[in-house]
Amino acid sequence: MGDEAGWIDVCDLDRLKAETIVRVAGRDLLVIWNEGNVVACERACPHEQADLALGQVTAGRLHCPRHAASFDLRDGAITAGWPSRPLRLYPVRIMDERIWIELQERQPGR
Ligand code: FES
Repeated sequence: MGDEAGWIDVCDLDRLKAETIVRVAGRDLLVIWNEGNVVACERACPHEQADLALGQVTAGRLHCPRHAASFDLRDGAITAGWPSRPLRLYPVRIMDERIWIELQERQPGR
C-alpha cells in the first residue's frame, strides 16, 4: 500500500498507547488512543482553531485546551449547544503494529 491511495504511515501503535495523542508529521492531523481504538482527526479545533494536540482525552471525548467544548471520538460530534461544526475524522488502519491514516475525510457510516 503506497501513498497513491492516500494512506500515510503515522507511528507505532505502542507509541500511541504510551502518548495518547500523536501529531501526524507534516499534516494538521492527530491520532488518538481512545478506549482501545485508534481515532484520526484534524488538529485545529473547529471552534477557534486551538491546538487539539494539547487537549485531553477522557471518557471517549477529546477536550479542547482553550474553551469548554469537547468532541465525541466515535463521530466527531461537538458538545451540545456549541455553534461549531463537528470534528473531522479520518479512516484508520493498523498494519503490522503501525498506524496508517487515509487523508480523505471519513464519511458517516464508514
Ligand atoms: S477553540 Fe476549541 S472550544 Fe474554543
